[in-house]
Amino acid sequence: MAQLRALVTGIGGQDGSYLAEFLLEKGYEVHGFGRRGTKPIDDRVTMHFGDLVDPAALCGAIAESQPSEIYNLGAESHVGDSFKQPAYTWRATAEPVLTILEYVRWNMPKCRVYQASSSEMFGVMPAPQDEHTAFLPQSPYAVAKCAAHQTVQIYRKAYGVFAVGGILFNHESERRPNRFVTRKISQSVARIALGLQEALVLGNLEARRDWGYSPDFVRAMWLMLQQDDPLDYVVATGETHSVGEFVALAFHYVEEFTGKRFDINERVRVDASFKRPAEVPDLCGDASRAEQKLGWVPTVRFADLVRRMVKHDLGGSEQR
Ligand code: GDD
Repeated sequence: MAQLRALVTGIGGQDGSYLAEFLLEKGYEVHGFGRRGTKPIDDRVTMHFGDLVDPAALCGAIAESQPSEIYNLGAESHVGDSFKQPAYTWRATAEPVLTILEYVRWNMPKCRVYQASSSEMFGVMPAPQDEHTAFLPQSPYAVAKCAAHQTVQIYRKAYGVFAVGGILFNHESERRPNRFVTRKISQSVARIALGLQEALVLGNLEARRDWGYSPDFVRAMWLMLQQDDPLDYVVATGETHSVGEFVALAFHYVEEFTGKRFDINERVRVDASFKRPAEVPDLCGDASRAEQKLGWVPTVRFADLVRRMVKHDLGGSEQR
């Protein structure tokens, strides 16, 4: 049997790095698409350099790599930043999937496509959310993700392309950049414990999210493309916690690991500059379909996730 070949956009990000490792482990030839300077996690990844907003570069990468599976993970993925650069967010988040699907339908109809859809699409719809919940997006990012997701559905229905949208709820890890709240918290509490930082400054502490572990979630992406029929799936842990709860648990683990106790009221401040013009209050996914059809369940849940991230950042900081 010919070797399986995958092309991953956004290969330099958290999910791209875990997915590349996962696919290499499964024996895939892995190709990555990313901006010049993107360093893949493993030397065995073949890079194709280009920007997602350049359809010619993206088509070139597909033509060169001739993948059997495409994972479109690339996007402007920061919800807060999408308010500051809405047009770029649209171009980098909504349009590339259209380019990919058009290319695939005309040139390689057997190629399977995974689109990184997002729980942000649900916006202010009440929790729990599943595949039947309507979308009510609250940011330029979420609007672009809705367009991408619905484009996938149209290409599946109209042209028979094997394309799926994985509606992933928040997923974090020790590799998460600190512009996202979980890593900002875990790094900051570790730095506070080590005497390197005075306070943790955040925006909305009341927002609730369903936080899972990125390596679990990339496994779900792959499973979606191995099914007989293409279908969209919610991927989530089914547990929801506030940003404030994440902070409290992070300080709890700091105490457990270092013996140092901090007064949260003294160490945590709220600054309006970290708040968003519109907010998504409560995300909690019902991933029953993924469990039933893919046999997928998360292995890392909230408390374990917080513990891992804090432990990593304490260790990392100590080594410096
Ligand atoms: N980033 C950040 N920084 N968020 C903060 C802060 C802060 O200082 N303070 C409070 N928050 C709140 C945000 O307002 C939001 O309600 C919540 O913490 C989580 O923010 P992020 O970690 O930035 O993630 P997100 O939920 O907006 O989006 C992530 O998850 C989506 C899936 O639901 C991203 O990974 C998206 O790309 C992804 O689609």
